[in-house]
Amino acid sequence: MKKIVTAGLGLAVLTTASMAASLNDNPNYKKLKNFHPKVKSETCLMCHKGTDAGIVADWQHSKHAKAGVGCVECHVVPKDYPTALKSHPIKGSNWTVAVAVSSLTCAKCHSKEVTEYMNSGHSRGGAQWLAANGSKHGYLMSKLAYNYEGMRGNSKGINGTDGKHMNAGIRKEFQANQNTPRISDLSVANICIQCHGGIVKLDKNGKPDAATWPNDGIGALYPDGGVSNCTSCHSRHKFSAAEARQPGACTNCHLGPDHPDKEVFESSVHGHIFDTNEEDYDFSTGAQKPGKTVRAGTCFTCHMSGINGLHATHNVSERLKWNLWAPKSFERTKGAETAGWAWYKNRKILRGNPKAGNPQGPEAARSEMKQVCATCHEATFTNNYFQRVDAQVTLYNQYRTMAEKMMKELKAKGLIKADVWSDPFFKLDYYLWHHEGRRMRHGAAMGSPDYAHWHGVFQVMQDIREMKDIYDYRMKMYKKYGSAKKALENEVPMPVVTHE
Ligand code: HEC
Ligand code: HEC
Ligand code: HEC
Ligand code: HEC
Ligand code: HEC
Ligand code: HEC
Ligand code: HEC
Ligand code: HEC
Repeated sequence: MKKIVTAGLGLAVLTTASMAASLNDNPNYKKLKNFHPKVKSETCLMCHKGTDAGIVADWQHSKHAKAGVGCVECHVVPKDYPTALKSHPIKGSNWTVAVAVSSLTCAKCHSKEVTEYMNSGHSRGGAQWLAANGSKHGYLMSKLAYNYEGMRGNSKGINGTDGKHMNAGIRKEFQANQNTPRISDLSVANICIQCHGGIVKLDKNGKPDAATWPNDGIGALYPDGGVSNCTSCHSRHKFSAAEARQPGACTNCHLGPDHPDKEVFESSVHGHIFDTNEEDYDFSTGAQKPGKTVRAGTCFTCHMSGINGLHATHNVSERLKWNLWAPKSFERTKGAETAGWAWYKNRKILRGNPKAGNPQGPEAARSEMKQVCATCHEATFTNNYFQRVDAQVTLYNQYRTMAEKMMKELKAKGLIKADVWSDPFFKLDYYLWHHEGRRMRHGAAMGSPDYAHWHGVFQVMQDIREMKDIYDYRMKMYKKYGSAKKALENEVPMPVVTHE
């Protein structure tokens, strides 16, 4: 085995991790840990074996069942616990059942996995798009979902997201749910929330609200402070590690026009090998041994596994040098994610730390990723490869800088429409970074020439030209009419080619 990582890194990682936030920061953790209700899972099975055959069968096939971890260990809580269900047919003197189970429950027995997860970008999945409401975050993501897509106009809905200051923005004809915000709340539970998670809300009986639950979004925010229910990759009630190690456990979320990691992987050489040599993979173990359990990298191998002497981790951000989802890529600095912990400690919604990555900084992240490759490739191969990845990110940033400059000048002159989602320049700007620019970066980083080029830079190249044409035209009209309002009113409609 070839090790690239510098000596002493392992020790340094431990020191930094111990300075991060801790599970003890939320009193509910101790409360659950020290709670030992006098009821056995056999009691639960008396009724639930008949009514929930699927749930019980999955649990029976889990390692939990064999280890004596049953319905009680995960679903029984103190009567005054924030998720307590008041309406369940049976209760004890000091206990009742909870239907909403967060990672705080898992933490009783899996504190290492939960802590790593809390330090990762995954734990901000729910908070970051809701926090956007209170901040000026680029594309107003929560407003996009509720106020624009859900046609709620400027009214306030379940998560406090309201379109104040947007009266001039959203046109009247697109405000069908101004007085029925429940429709938009429920509709958003089909979209963003299912991948990202949102705030899980319970009624006074402890029953979850349909606009917030069920969801196995990666960063769902629970009333007890727990973030996620851990079922995103380990579906309940098998809670299997073997399942989570397979690419299919990631690709129900990591796909599509804006982060096509499924498609990128499938069109890489690693994906080709995975699709054609099933017999070379053994997911029943986490050990990544070439010739025995793995032949080429999978999502789990590269982002989480304990391959080649690395420590296995639930922090998927640890091996990332760049931030590849942001409008403009930047290197990740030291430090952990903060949004999950802010919720955990005092139910605060924060935008989080988009620079969270390796506790030792971006070069350590890159070294760890190279150490993954070193299991199967030589240093010349790997170093050359990453020079190309970095160049693609730099090239993308150059395009982005041009777009930003034009946007800034148009905005300064009032030449962007108030209803931004009907403005062709704004839309192109969005596609350039959110769809095509991500594809160009993810494609290069994970070895898919099709996504790096045809779905990527080729389309970014077209976007920037179309944007420049609109920019030039608007500047000309502005000069002609001497007023932004008139210039926009007299603009001939410009259809945008959406490069799917
Ligand atoms: C006497 C029968 C009975 C027993 C015993 C029983 N349950 Fe239930 N349980 C029910 C019924 C009926 C419901 C549906 C209640 C409802 O819809 O309000 C239910 C609902 C639930 C739910 C889901 C609530 C929802 O709204 O989706 C959970 C979780 C649950 N029970 C867990 C347990 C656990 C854990 C135990 C053992 C401590 C247990 N139950 C014992 C009858 C029982
Ligand atoms: C290792 C922990 C764990 C064990 C053991 C466990 N559950 Fe669950 N259960 C969960 C989690 C996590 C969820 C999802 C909660 C959420 O989405 O908020 C869940 C959800 C549920 C639900 C609601 C989902 C649905 O499909 O209706 C029911 C009912 C339920 N469990 C019953 C049971 C019963 C009965 C047992 C015992 C046979 C059991 N659970 C054992 C963790 C567990
Ligand atoms: C009361 C302690 C306890 C709780 C609570 C608990 N677990 Fe476990 N879990 C265990 C034990 C013990 C094992 C090891 C079983 C073994 O290795 O045979 C285990 C194993 C696992 C595994 C590995 C299974 C495999 O295929 O190797 C996963 C994944 C897991 N738990 C997830 C969870 C999640 C998610 C939750 C919360 C919803 C949770 N656990 C709650 C005790 C617990
Ligand atoms: C199919 C699953 C899926 C859906 C649906 C989805 N997203 Fe995402 N989203 C992702 C993934 C995966 C990433 C991470 C991409 C990456 O790391 O490059 C992401 C990234 C983001 C980011 C950037 C990350 C950050 O911390 O700022 C924002 C903001 C975002 N999504 C908001 C939304 C909103 C709002 C919606 C609904 C209007 C939505 N997403 C719908 C899966 C999804
Ligand atoms: C339930 C949906 C879901 C599943 C399943 C899922 N992810 Fe994610 N993932 C997301 C979302 C949403 C984000 C963006 C979170 C953010 O930045 O706000 C994300 C972000 C990431 C990131 C970037 C983190 C960062 O710091 O920017 C990586 C890497 C990642 N996921 C890898 C994986 C891998 C590997 C798997 C499978 C083992 C996986 N994900 C499974 C939804 C998911
Ligand atoms: C992004 C996908 C993903 C999410 C989300 C996730 N896990 Fe895992 N989990 C995995 C993978 C992959 C493995 C296998 C790790 C290995 O073999 O090194 C695993 C393994 C485990 C194990 C077994 C560890 C061992 O050494 O046997 C436990 C316990 C566990 N997870 C608990 C959790 C808990 C608790 C959560 C919620 C905080 C969670 N997982 C969320 C992907 C995930
Ligand atoms: C051969 C190793 C390898 C495989 C296989 C792999 N990745 Fe990656 N992934 C990388 C590298 C390298 C990067 C870029 C790291 C950096 O920032 O320098 C990356 C970046 C990402 C990002 C972007 C994070 C951001 O900053 O926006 C996501 C999300 C992601 N991978 C998810 C996945 C998923 C899901 C799979 C499986 C479908 C997968 N990866 C398969 C190596 C791999
Ligand atoms: C478990 C072994 C394994 C790991 C880990 C692995 N690869 Fe590979 N990789 C392979 C195999 C096998 C091939 C197929 C070689 C061939 O025939 O082209 C391959 C092919 C490739 C190719 C395309 C083939 C070529 O010659 O251009 C690239 C690029 C690549 N790997 C990059 C990486 C990078 C970067 C990493 C680390 C982030 C990595 N690999 C991790 C096994 C692995």
